[in-house]
Amino acid sequence: MADYTKEIERRRTFAIISHPDAGKTTLTEKFLLYGGAINQAGSVKGKATARHAVSDWMEIEKERGISVTSSVLQFHYEGYCINILDTPGHQDFSEDTYRTLMAADSAVMVIDASKGVEAQTRKLFKVCVMRHIPIFTFINKMDRDARDTFDLLDEIEKELGIATYPVNWPIGSGKKFRGIYNRESNQVMTFSDTQKGTHEGQEENVDADKLVERSLADQEQVDTLGDEIELLDGASVSFDQDLVDKGELTPVFFGSALTNFGVLTFLEHFLKMTTSPLPRVADGKEIDPVNADFSAFVFKIQANMNKNHRDRIAFMRICSGKFDAGMEVYHVQGGKKLRLSQPQQMMADSRHVVQEAYAGDIIGVFDPGIFSIGDTVCATGDNFQYEGIPTFAPEHFARVSLIDTMKRKQFVKGINQIAQEGAIQIFQELKGGMEEIIVGVVGVLQFDVLKYRLTNEYNVEIRLETLPYEYIRWIENKDEVEVDKIVGTSDMKTVMDLKERPLLLFANSWSVGMVQERNEGLRLAEFSKN
Ligand code: G4P
Repeated sequence: MADYTKEIERRRTFAIISHPDAGKTTLTEKFLLYGGAINQAGSVKGKATARHAVSDWMEIEKERGISVTSSVLQFHYEGYCINILDTPGHQDFSEDTYRTLMAADSAVMVIDASKGVEAQTRKLFKVCVMRHIPIFTFINKMDRDARDTFDLLDEIEKELGIATYPVNWPIGSGKKFRGIYNRESNQVMTFSDTQKGTHEGQEENVDADKLVERSLADQEQVDTLGDEIELLDGASVSFDQDLVDKGELTPVFFGSALTNFGVLTFLEHFLKMTTSPLPRVADGKEIDPVNADFSAFVFKIQANMNKNHRDRIAFMRICSGKFDAGMEVYHVQGGKKLRLSQPQQMMADSRHVVQEAYAGDIIGVFDPGIFSIGDTVCATGDNFQYEGIPTFAPEHFARVSLIDTMKRKQFVKGINQIAQEGAIQIFQELKGGMEEIIVGVVGVLQFDVLKYRLTNEYNVEIRLETLPYEYIRWIENKDEVEVDKIVGTSDMKTVMDLKERPLLLFANSWSVGMVQERNEGLRLAEFSKN
């Protein structure tokens, strides 16, 4: 066994998925406080102070006050080395958010207790399901009036199609929030909101039958708790780690990230229940994270950290072995040996050069324009390719045309490069040229990014005309189907992507089903497996 087995086994790499404002940033910040990576609350992404700790690379990002790109944070807690893959929290999230989930081994789903399952959570959840990764649920903001607990669980089960196992159970909410009942120990962790911003919360555990005596809850609440737990024990499934591992059962926790309540309980259970880096598949075979030599795949490319240079950073998830700065590696898609220069890692609010990293870690390396999303890098003696990263469905489309046709060459170069980085997807009319193309994006902000970058980096002005399409489907069995003969709907448009694969765009969701019905044997897919 390699001498770094322990290093890999202590790693936990996960993403947090949520709808904006559910409390993802607050929860991340509390994790970092426990890990001692930051000293005070508010230093991760101070919306209020407009500090963009980890990704202040573009003017547009600063102007809008949001984070365009996802980042990675590493910290240590109780012997674990934890990598949190952050996903943009704004509604205008991008394809990068989805790709980030490809690098995670598990996901934490943060839900606002007053709102339940919201749109963005639903979208990100789909990607987790596709990957069959374990999903852990933190129901946040219990210090505010919450929806009925059974209703919330019911919604998760019905809307997301995953069974739930509440590890603890809330007593009241909002002004009547008294704490959380631990089903294993029969004890209640009583709520106080004095822990806000502190390093470690003081959480007191009290036997459930002592609550009234100690004036920590009234009799009615204790009776309700008793009834609810009885109902829960009778109705809900029992805990099954195997189902958790397969992403079919989500352990559920309750708390209040803002007041630092229930966060530590969650973190500790989560770290035990989640997995260390799992083997990933390359050329149909599993590569062992511990016993194989270094290997990694590129899941994100971030452009222009410095406005004066067209440099890019390629983010890689290390899948096996150990990485040493300066080591020679083999870039499989490029067919070349190279050294990864300036390998970096994010530590809370700073970026630093890494000397070594292990399976489970994420590193960002300087990319002179050689990497594409999904590329594999491995030890020089090896040659295999990790399964590619799917192309996710854009939801917004626009026709892009060049204002000054003399700049055609720069335009084509710029737009292709930006597409290669994965910020946009390019489509063409079946018989169209490159003067006028259709661009698809996951978040509308990417249109602004495209316009901004073409002007600033390539000196090209474009016109964007928004198109009404919202749904895209790849034709899975394109070789069996005559694309010209597909019986469509009035709001359907046929286009092709850069790989000349045919796709269908729709303005209405019901048209997708209708086209499916009208064309027997046509297989449509929401993701494209590259
Ligand atoms: P996000 O990253 O998921 O978008 O959410 P974020 O953590 O930024 O939280 C969104 C808002 O919800 C913030 O308030 C935050 O303070 C609040 N919040 C987070 N967790 C809890 C909680 O457990 N209880 C309560 N009551 N509020 C919570 P804001 O006023 O929008 O921003 P800020 O000015 O406080 O940063």
